[in-house]
Amino acid sequence: MTQRRLWIEGFTAPVIANPADSLLEALSDAGYPVRSSCRNGNCEICEAALLQGAVRQTYPQLHLLGDYDAPPIIRLCTSFAQSDLRLRLMPYALRKSARG
Ligand code: FES
Repeated sequence: MTQRRLWIEGFTAPVIANPADSLLEALSDAGYPVRSSCRNGNCEICEAALLQGAVRQTYPQLHLLGDYDAPPIIRLCTSFAQSDLRLRLMPYALRKSARG
């Protein structure tokens, strides 16, 4: 299975993600300060803008493509990388200590 690179705006090094892991799992395992609660797509606390790349989101069920000018908002806990990605984490998706 081809691993994906996740580039997070504001962070210098990419996260290497297994496509079978949700983006939330990949970022949390790599030590990123991402908040989560329900982990099933309902609470919306783990949202990010998809700047570039493709994801499969299981809830709400969508296939989404990144767009720098009008990025779709994805839920990290139910999204899986279909390519390398560039993401911008929503301010409320970061733990308080990481918001500055
Ligand atoms: S943790 Fe609730 S929507 Fe992702």
